[in-house]
Amino acid sequence: MKSSEQMAALEELLPEVLAVALEYVRGLPQRQVRTEVPDEELRAILDDGLPADPSEPAEVVRQLVAAGGGLVPSGSGKYFGYVVGGTLPAGLAADWLTSVWDQNCIVHDGSPLTAVLEEICGRWLAELFMLPATTSYAFTPACTHADLLGLTVARHQVLARHGWDVARQGLQGGPAVAVLVNESIHAAVTRPLQVLGLGGSIRSLPTDTEGRILLPALREEIDAVRGQPLIVCGHVGEINTGGVDRLRPLAELTHEAGGWLHLDAAFGAWAAASPHLRHTLLDGLELADSLATDAHKWLNAPYDCGIALIADAQAHREALPLSADYLNLPDDQRHPVQWGLEVSRRSRVIPLWTILRQLGAAGVAQLVEERCAQAQRLAGHLRAEPGIDVLNDVALNQVLVRFHHSSGPDDDTHTQDVADAFQEHGQGWAGTSLWKGRTVLRLSLSNWASTNDDIDQAARSLIATHQNLTVTGQ
Ligand SMILES: Cc1ncc(COP(=O)(O)O)c(C=O)c1O
Repeated sequence: MKSSEQMAALEELLPEVLAVALEYVRGLPQRQVRTEVPDEELRAILDDGLPADPSEPAEVVRQLVAAGGGLVPSGSGKYFGYVVGGTLPAGLAADWLTSVWDQNCIVHDGSPLTAVLEEICGRWLAELFMLPATTSYAFTPACTHADLLGLTVARHQVLARHGWDVARQGLQGGPAVAVLVNESIHAAVTRPLQVLGLGGSIRSLPTDTEGRILLPALREEIDAVRGQPLIVCGHVGEINTGGVDRLRPLAELTHEAGGWLHLDAAFGAWAAASPHLRHTLLDGLELADSLATDAHKWLNAPYDCGIALIADAQAHREALPLSADYLNLPDDQRHPVQWGLEVSRRSRVIPLWTILRQLGAAGVAQLVEERCAQAQRLAGHLRAEPGIDVLNDVALNQVLVRFHHSSGPDDDTHTQDVADAFQEHGQGWAGTSLWKGRTVLRLSLSNWASTNDDIDQAARSLIATHQNLTVTGQ
């Protein structure tokens, strides 16, 4: 395509896509929260075989838009599934620019704007979470990758403390690493541990009803592995309950044994923006050696935007040796590739900076506190109804619900039936999970766009669904 043709295509396409985007976003509040179109229909729209020849760009984009029925309207304020945030307007606009600018931010000279924005965002996040000012950082595809990065540094450092350089010598023949993890830690931690060759070293720590490590058990396990290189993994926001480990004693016990504390804080880290939550629930966060979070859940940044924060910048750099003569890596500049596992990648900090700049610390605190209040509101409606139990404390944004049927199927089945019917009605969307062996409905209040009306409507729909199933005896 000649550049004049490319310009003509863009001038036709971008206004058209803007109109499609605005129509989609405008329609979200009215739309039922479910996917309307089966996969066969999507295949019929999208796949008539690999095209032999080029097509008109506008024609192809229209074909894609025609398959929009296959989208999950997860930007709706009534979507409470997984832990999924929406996208704040400033972040969405900046994300469009990220694609237009198409920066590859391997090294400083690939995108000075990205290199500088990473410095600013890293510093702002340390301040927002009240972490030491020396905290180092990397921007990753997702929280799982931030966990992988944090644990890569952890593995390197605890072995270095025992005179072993894992980057140079590998794992074989080295000291055995002990890894103690919260038994309900997300797979975003256990999976990287397995990838790092530490799967066989994992010992699970029992937890309480909120999914918090029982400290006497931690003490016992630490005593059992004392003298070995040690990594302890806890969480700030359990995926079901939102439970937060008792961070200060966790850190103190780990450090007293010479260990490294890694925290999976995918969504919970943002609670640190709330002064009240930071000083109560998250007390001790600043003692973590590494922390993994992301901006695409509770900060409502567009996917993808994981963040790794590491207390010891030197340990961070040492764990990631790099030899690539073609890269221009002057020492007086910060090069993203030296702090992360990826080489080529998107400039994730463009939307991140925009959101942090737009909200400010007070705006992030408000975003978090409003979602916590909405979780309480939802839990209050549900608790008031006979046969509905809220299982967790609802200290953050997660609500864990179980439905009881006195004369019908067992509660696991009834809870699943309520969840299926709730999803079918489209007045809200949430998925089920297993908590301590029991089926539960888990609702996550993560979207900036959720209103109190959305919450009340979802609660009414859940209560009516439960009552109908109870009355009809199903
Ligand atoms: C507590 C927790 N940790 C880790 C993850 C994984 O995050 P990501 O999907 O960004 O890798 C999630 C995802 O919901 C989570 O809730």
